[in-house]
Amino acid sequence: MKARKVKEGIDWMGAVDWDRRLFDSLIPLPDGTSYNAYLIQGSEKTVLVDTVDPSMVDVLLFQLESVPNIDYVIAHHAEQDHSGSLPHVLEKYKNARVLTTPKGKGMLVDHLLIPEERFITVDDGETLSLGDKTLEFIYTPWVHWPETMVTYLREDQILFTCDFFGSHLATTDLYVTDEGRVYEAAKRYYAEIMMPFRKIIQKNLEKIQDLEIDLIAPSHGPIYDRPAFIIDAYRDWVSEIPRNVVVLPYISMHGSTAKMVEYLVSALAEKGVTVHQFDLAVTDIGKLAITLVDAATIVIGTPTVHVGPHPNVFYAAYLANALRPKLKFASIIGSYGWSSKAIEQIAGLIPNLQVEILEPVLCKGFPREADFKALDNLAATIAEKHKEHNLT
Ligand code: FEO
Repeated sequence: MKARKVKEGIDWMGAVDWDRRLFDSLIPLPDGTSYNAYLIQGSEKTVLVDTVDPSMVDVLLFQLESVPNIDYVIAHHAEQDHSGSLPHVLEKYKNARVLTTPKGKGMLVDHLLIPEERFITVDDGETLSLGDKTLEFIYTPWVHWPETMVTYLREDQILFTCDFFGSHLATTDLYVTDEGRVYEAAKRYYAEIMMPFRKIIQKNLEKIQDLEIDLIAPSHGPIYDRPAFIIDAYRDWVSEIPRNVVVLPYISMHGSTAKMVEYLVSALAEKGVTVHQFDLAVTDIGKLAITLVDAATIVIGTPTVHVGPHPNVFYAAYLANALRPKLKFASIIGSYGWSSKAIEQIAGLIPNLQVEILEPVLCKGFPREADFKALDNLAATIAEKHKEHNLT
């Protein structure tokens, strides 16, 4: 892909990675991703905003062939999908200096072995004149590492945000054209890497709320020419109030737990509670993360394997605990053959979830009348709890 004009003196650069399917060897990317960089040419100085994943450095270097000089490279974030090509860019532009936070400098020295003398660290709120354009650096930690910042280009009212507001989406569209599609991709991204830092992101949103923003230019996914769309979405995601939603990740080996899940989902639906059910044997774990953004309750369904929960349930519970969603309630349902410590073991896996545990339902073998009654009670309790909290 060639460079593309955003505004006078501002070009999109970067690479679209259509076929990448996994990030950090963990996060599914069903729609690929992009690594956006931006070239800002002021009347006196030229700046490159972020770089690209090192696997696609050739694409960026091709785009830079006609750029004779770069004075500064902004490194908003030290993770390699944005910084990994920095050594190549610094090799090509021998006088260029890297603008980053003090923490960013430390990380880039550690991860990429860039010499310390190539850096200029910037303070929160510091400005830099490029002649006819002015950059303002704003610290926005934990989007998604502790060193992250964003840059506001005052004259053009563009906010460059790197991971913040980004979406893992491979597309030829420079700007958002399908808000529904981008909403899901951006929510997946928020859920997988930013949700644990919800309270800090609330503060980051406050820091940018008074800026006049014409465009939000992230380093993943298309540019937002209607910034309110993604800012409002983030405000909703980081709010403290969950929805009238149950997430039900489960696994079943011989059908007993599956029968209980089917029964409970039906009982909850009858009471007006929205349920998202995920069979952990086949589900996209990113979909599970997306639904955890809004859910008030998680019910984990598991059979018993060697006295404990199924290993896939261990993984899902560990992940939910790490992502720290705004859940208020949790419960466990499942079955066993002769004995089980699944409830105690799952409860021990979710200390970060400050939830009220609702009476679990564990049955021996295939569920019978008493078990279905217990599931009815669980459904009624969940619906009542949601109603008490006025969840919609
Ligand atoms: Fe897109 Fe945290 O890197």
